[in-house]
Amino acid sequence: MSDILLFTQALARDAGKLIVDERAAAALTHEYKNGDELVTNADIKADQFICEAIARQFPGHQILSEESSPDLGAVQKITTPLWIIDPIDGTVNFAHGHNHSAISIAYVEDAQTKVGVVYNPFSEELFYAESGKGAFLNSNPISVSSEAELRRSLIATGFPYDKSTLAPMIPRLHAVLANCADIRRIGSAALDICFLAMGRLDGYYESLSIWDFAAARLIAIEAGAECGHFSEVPPGIDPQFYDRDILIANPTIYPLLRALLQEVDNA
Ligand code: IPD
Ligand code: CA
Ligand code: CA
Repeated sequence: MSDILLFTQALARDAGKLIVDERAAAALTHEYKNGDELVTNADIKADQFICEAIARQFPGHQILSEESSPDLGAVQKITTPLWIIDPIDGTVNFAHGHNHSAISIAYVEDAQTKVGVVYNPFSEELFYAESGKGAFLNSNPISVSSEAELRRSLIATGFPYDKSTLAPMIPRLHAVLANCADIRRIGSAALDICFLAMGRLDGYYESLSIWDFAAARLIAIEAGAECGHFSEVPPGIDPQFYDRDILIANPTIYPLLRALLQEVDNA
């Protein structure tokens, strides 16, 4: 295991303890950014904790973190190593007392994601991957499901805080419910993608922000998933960082789900 992976795992575990303790202290504050996007004091504290630890250990590195430095421009110029952080993915779950939220930390070097760590401190599930070295859950190798039939597939998705963009999602939902086994909206994109990586789900689609998926996408790739999009990636954009219409599935389900979603969007 590389030093970067060991550092990232320890950091995710420590940040996980911080958010568990914050919630147990029963002193969570709730605010809304951009209108409807819930953020708690634990999101802010975990963000600061992670960013400060990285800045101390790697003073020359860039940091892109949801609550403190959500500067997407950093992804366009990855000249020095870049860390992409979601301090709590699944804040709505977290704030409502559900135990399905995660710390997500990705490390990017030479414009490629090299390390991804997603940690759910409530279930103590630590998902991680290093580029080219496979994907793991708590030290055990993981791989995607072998489900081959769309109608037997369990699919996950999610919905944005911005209600004005919901319209195209309804026909997609209808098509997935009609053609697949069932659908889940579990509330943490990072964990959805890790669940896909370990075979608890067969397919996943959603539009996200880069911190939601940067770490989990590498974990899914290393677990054998196909990662792409069900719409065209605009020219000049690196597909690994393109956040619209993301589609991740086992390699057999991927083209079937892609065709289904494209058929709906083109109808
Ligand atoms: C959210 C979760 C959710 C997804 C939203 C994300 P947050 O992240 O990943 O599952 O559907 O699009 O914004 O706000 O909990 O960090
Ligand atoms: Ca998130
Ligand atoms: Ca978040």
